Amino acid sequence: MTYHDTQGRYGVISRLFHWIMALFIIIQFMALGSYINDGEHWVGNTIVPWHVDVGLLLLVLVPLRIIWMLSQQQQRAKPQGQGVMALLAKGGHLLLYLCMVLIPVTGVLLMVGGGHGLGLFGIELVAESEKSISWAVALGEWHAQISWLFVALVLGHLGAALYHHFVKHDDTLVRMTIKRLGNS
Ligand code: HEM
Ligand code: HEM
Repeated sequence: MTYHDTQGRYGVISRLFHWIMALFIIIQFMALGSYINDGEHWVGNTIVPWHVDVGLLLLVLVPLRIIWMLSQQQQRAKPQGQGVMALLAKGGHLLLYLCMVLIPVTGVLLMVGGGHGLGLFGIELVAESEKSISWAVALGEWHAQISWLFVALVLGHLGAALYHHFVKHDDTLVRMTIKRLGNS
């Protein structure tokens, strides 16, 4: 088992970060759409109540992932394709990271700034307050907007991964999955 990334594939740690966080992020996207949060829909009743807890876990994971990604930068494979396509892939990954940082941070600002307090699995981290903090709420209100941008980016990212796999027939998707390649 290769823990570190190589030119041929992402190592176990990068793959775990990628897929665990992707799963959590898709769970977070369930908060989109008011019709499922109207108290009637099972998604709104079972998944969305965990939104802050899962969001805070993502907030803890993202700096660890960034540190790991930076430590692997030299040895991991460069995105496939050349010129504009390679630039798009790099820029896209950078924007995905930016969203992974900004979204949970604005979520925290929204909760704390609005005086709602903050808790993680029932443990109180910040107490509720009568007073709201206007600058925090103003910044926090970007949470939903950036989430929409994030959804679009993830869909583009998914499309690119499928395009590489089924149209270009290269190993872009395989090197992020569990299939073993020759040189890993
Ligand atoms: C990567 C992590 C996160 C993602 C992807 C995410 C995504 C979303 C989405 C898609 C919505 C629905 C927006 C809409 O109604 O149009 C939402 C709402 C909300 N989220 Fe998050 N969230 C994350 C983390 C957090 C965290 C850490 C907190 C709080 C500590 C939080 C607090 C809230 C609140 C209070 C709302 C409802 C208010 C609003 O719609 O503006 N979120 N989030
Ligand atoms: C749901 C949220 C997702 C986020 C935030 C995300 C983010 C990222 C990021 C930042 C990278 C660059 C490598 C790294 O630093 O980890 C990456 C690589 C990759 N992702 Fe995702 N991803 C998501 C979902 C998916 C999905 C659903 C698929 C495909 C089914 C996918 C397929 C890939 C592939 C194939 C790579 C390798 C690209 C390359 O080496 O050029 N990702 N992803």
